[in-house]
Amino acid sequence: MRPETAVAIHLEDYAPAAYQIDTVDLDIQLSPRSTDVFARLAVRRHEDTDPGAPLELDGDELELVGLTLDGMPLLEDAYSATPSKLVLNAPPAEPFTLEIRTRIDPDSNTELMGLYRSSGTYCTQCEAEGFRRITYFLDRPDILSVYTTRIEARKGDAPILLGNGNPVSAGDVPGTDRHFAVWHDPHPKPSYLFAMVAGDLAHVADTFVTTSGRKVDLKIYVEHGREDRCAWAMDSLKRSMKWDEDVFGCEYDLDVFNIVAVSDFNMGAMENKGLNIFNDKYVLADPETATDQDYANIEAVIAHEYFHNWTGNRITCRDWFQLCLKEGLTVFRDQEFSSDMRSRAVKRIADVRLLKSHQFPEDAGPLAHPVRPRKYTEINNFYTATVYEKGAEVVRMLKTLLGPDGFRKGMDLYLERHDGDATTIEAFLVCFSEATATDLGQFARWYDQAGTPQVDVKSRYDKRAGELTLDISQSIAPLPGQASSEPAVIPLRFGLVGRNGEDMSFERVTGARLQEDVLILEEQSQSVTFTGLKSRPVVSLLRGFSAPVRLEDHQDADDLLFQARQDSDDFNRWQAIQTLATHDLIRLAGEARTGKELKADARLVEAFGETLLNEELDPAFRALALQLPSEADLARDIGSNVDPDAIHQARAVLRAAIGSENAGAFRAALGAKPQGSFSPDADAAGKRALANQALAYYAASGASDVDDLVMAAFVDADNMTDRIAALTLLVHDNLKDAEQALEIFRKRHEATSLAMDKWFMVQATAPLADGLEKVKALTAHPLFDFANPNRVRSLVHAFATGNATQFARQDGLGFEFVAGNVLVIDQRNAQVASRLLTCFRSWRAYEEGRSKLAETALLKISSAEGLSRDTRDIVDRCLQ
Ligand code: ARG
Ligand code: ZN
Repeated sequence: MRPETAVAIHLEDYAPAAYQIDTVDLDIQLSPRSTDVFARLAVRRHEDTDPGAPLELDGDELELVGLTLDGMPLLEDAYSATPSKLVLNAPPAEPFTLEIRTRIDPDSNTELMGLYRSSGTYCTQCEAEGFRRITYFLDRPDILSVYTTRIEARKGDAPILLGNGNPVSAGDVPGTDRHFAVWHDPHPKPSYLFAMVAGDLAHVADTFVTTSGRKVDLKIYVEHGREDRCAWAMDSLKRSMKWDEDVFGCEYDLDVFNIVAVSDFNMGAMENKGLNIFNDKYVLADPETATDQDYANIEAVIAHEYFHNWTGNRITCRDWFQLCLKEGLTVFRDQEFSSDMRSRAVKRIADVRLLKSHQFPEDAGPLAHPVRPRKYTEINNFYTATVYEKGAEVVRMLKTLLGPDGFRKGMDLYLERHDGDATTIEAFLVCFSEATATDLGQFARWYDQAGTPQVDVKSRYDKRAGELTLDISQSIAPLPGQASSEPAVIPLRFGLVGRNGEDMSFERVTGARLQEDVLILEEQSQSVTFTGLKSRPVVSLLRGFSAPVRLEDHQDADDLLFQARQDSDDFNRWQAIQTLATHDLIRLAGEARTGKELKADARLVEAFGETLLNEELDPAFRALALQLPSEADLARDIGSNVDPDAIHQARAVLRAAIGSENAGAFRAALGAKPQGSFSPDADAAGKRALANQALAYYAASGASDVDDLVMAAFVDADNMTDRIAALTLLVHDNLKDAEQALEIFRKRHEATSLAMDKWFMVQATAPLADGLEKVKALTAHPLFDFANPNRVRSLVHAFATGNATQFARQDGLGFEFVAGNVLVIDQRNAQVASRLLTCFRSWRAYEEGRSKLAETALLKISSAEGLSRDTRDIVDRCLQ
């Protein structure tokens, strides 16, 4: 993949391939340093292609060992081969068979793309362009082929041999210590969904019977000794399969469904047909080593990959610009699944928090791009929060606009009409438009415009007339490559809240379309008037976060406090208290820079205490409402001239005020842990979250027993959620026994790599004056390993994204440290390096001194030689 030979690829240049490959027969003879791949391809000229037009196959670091056409070796001048291309100059006009033999080295594949080994297990990752690292191919998602895969390996090394589809045959290779297995996948698929696994693995098994009676064997494969950590993943899988039948009418279509968990993986997981491969962090869980958040993530990712079987595999993308076609839709589906499994309001708040903390900053800086980009140089850099999370919000808005029935009709039509296709966003939207007779022309802008729309609302109430008018405008700030924008269709769910907390009725609304409780905004600016009101309502806008916009509705503190207490919409109750806290924190951060003495707003402090004690609210909801906006959230809202130290100070002051004013109540709330043996369900998790939130505030109260109490909570914890919560306080608040607790934790969990990731992460995110020095020292720890992406993420990435004051140190050493690591990591794994580098994306928002230092670090990367295409692309765009 290296070095940086970057050519920009444009959506408008899409053209079908000159040839089609109908079947792919692979014979993969595994050996750690030298694996031979025989590929037999049935190739057919596309009807629009001139006879004799060259056939150009993609490769990446490949070595060609043999080549025949219809069984005959090719003359030297009939083709040309380089590690990245195989070109047949003038192939036959009629269908032909191409046999390609390549040799690859799985052990030295540190990019973790293509075929590689993780802890001795052979595995593959082909999305987006990894298949070309296995054999030469038309490696693009619109080439759909039927695959048959024979895998051969030494029996002792790899007793388990897995491929896509259904197992066909298996046996020994006579006279050798090797054996083989043949797999056949009857569903035509793009090459990015190819997978194989071979290794010495244990498994757990279960079955699922589909609505039409197909019995499916389910297996989860893991390293030996980890079988007892698979129960939750298996349970989540079965619930996903049932849910997809019930809610979307999607049934599974093979006899087996296999999941393999590996420790070295570039991302979360991969939906390969019938053979999902997972980062083990999204499979393995038990109370001793996994937190409630881990359990929730596993449930969501297992569902996500399973749901891809229809939205992604049966219907795939025509080209990589359409990535959101499968990802946005599938994230929406997994979010809906989790909402049905848990509390819908709590899930929505968690999803919006993630969107605002990851996607909003991306959409406001130099890496901003439309949900469907129009241009890329390295597609792996577009697996972003915008494509995934904003993409899911766009689908959610579609459902809001069309209603649940209209949305289901559109989905049914899409699944029926495009089954077996590689298709586009346009084709997707047409299904909804046709099924509901709705014009979605303007709505489609959500896919084509980058940036978060800012919605500004000023309200006026005319008491005599009983009329409320909302002056609403929308705009997107200019971005690199997007100077101006057109108005979007914004579904604004709302309520007019009366004094008793109930939504008021009104006679008429003018100035916008109204659909039940949703106002549909379509203009750059519009005035919406409600008539027939008996008194002035508190206007509750963007309920449930009905659109991915930044809302500025100029509510005063009284109305916000009222909303926080009375709004019937849980999301807006949470939002109101967050907005209040944000306002006060921004004020405090401003004052911190002038050296003024900081004092938190008393009414806000009181409101937090009230939230804690409000037994009518679900504990999980209270825990979320008590959580202050993060330092990164505040930096995003401040937007420019950002000083991370001032933000940190502001938060510390507010946290201490809330803790000390309500110390008694927080102390009392510590005991409200769920009773009985551990269960990861949402109720029990909510109770733990609230108790741990109370512990954090109590720790901030400055009471004399804090050190002992937090250490006792750490020592007494009988599950990872409580243990890591206490350890985080000990380390981040620099409490007396922090070092001792870290030692106890290390001794206890040394053998469990996922638990040790947490140990690294707690230290990486500690906002201490010598935080950076500690992190540097940890890179030399015997358990630190640049080759393991999870470990790199838990230390270096966690530092860069979760330790704002140390990353953006005024001496520039934090930036320098991360930039240096990007360069080191880029030598072995371009995707991990370029992902790490995105932590610089908001560099221009810092105050002048820090922003200069960040620029220096970026320029250092930019001037380095031999950068990967991935890292070159991110650094160039950051500096543009
Ligand atoms: N399709 C996978 C998923 O949704 C992610 C693949 C990411 N690939 C990449 N090259 N970054 O879950
Ligand atoms: Zn996905």
